[in-house]
Amino acid sequence: MDEFERHGIGVVSGRDACARALRSPELTSDPGGGSPSLLLRDGEAHTRVRAVLREIIAGLEPVPDSLRVRIEAVVAGLGTSFDLVRDFARPVAGVVTSAVLGVDLDDEFLDRLEATTANLDVFGGADRAGQAAAFRLAVQLSRTAAGPGGLTALRDAHAAGRLDEDELVINAVVLAHAAYENSLNFLACAGLELATAGPRTVRELVAAICPARYVLRFGPDGPVAISLADGLPFGLGRHACPGSGVAVAEGEIALTALAKLLDGGCRVGEVRWKTHPVFHGPERAVVTLASGNG
Ligand code: HEM
Repeated sequence: MDEFERHGIGVVSGRDACARALRSPELTSDPGGGSPSLLLRDGEAHTRVRAVLREIIAGLEPVPDSLRVRIEAVVAGLGTSFDLVRDFARPVAGVVTSAVLGVDLDDEFLDRLEATTANLDVFGGADRAGQAAAFRLAVQLSRTAAGPGGLTALRDAHAAGRLDEDELVINAVVLAHAAYENSLNFLACAGLELATAGPRTVRELVAAICPARYVLRFGPDGPVAISLADGLPFGLGRHACPGSGVAVAEGEIALTALAKLLDGGCRVGEVRWKTHPVFHGPERAVVTLASGNG
């Protein structure tokens, strides 16, 4: 909260006020400056780009068997001691992001994707490292040969005149980041909950954890951060998460497999948290299975 105040950003909290704010025509996602990212615009251009991304995401509903197998293989490959972030959440979110784009993604790509976090930046784009990482990814994706999937679909949409050149380049990264960052934080947090507090459904977990704590909007009185922590984990209104179905399905597959592994008991140590004001999740959390388990 202090962090927002320091930057002159008002805060809206409480479920009803937040729902109203998210639906308000007076509050826009567009800070000005003409970004081609669908996260940072409203109106016709937002609707048009969002329709293309929604079609891409629908290709993973329901989750194809090949992706389910890859997610389960991540959990099957965990040893008797593992970091919930590096060994579980990161590779699961990575294989899903790779399936969204239809491109193989290596560790270096995921490192850069994590570094772009601040580029969605609530504080006015001061983070040069985050912007450089996003720019490198945009260049890398524009040179990547893609199979069937999101990247090819974005290129087809460009060829058909549905996206301009800038929209094609930037929204490939926005889609990758949107599919990756919140899922990474959610899966790691949810894994920690399962390890320390026992089983709960994915929908309960995502609402309790709320990995994206705030969204930013711009109104007549300046910028406001709208809290999602009171039961709105996927947002609401024009920008509500179009990947929530995939996020829940991915969580169900990965967390069901993880819960089985943790069934015989475990210890949790070395828990460290990220300090980002918006994206909430652990940086590291080491689980050691009880001996005889796993
Ligand atoms: C637990 C995981 C996830 C959470 C908590 C989450 C949450 C959110 C939230 C709160 C927004 C709204 C941003 C705003 O209003 O400014 C959003 C937008 C978005 N999400 Fe998700 N998300 C998750 C996973 C995913 C996945 C797996 C995908 C893709 C397969 C995805 C794709 C997107 C896209 C493309 C947008 C931008 C929509 C727009 O601006 O119109 N998300 N997400």
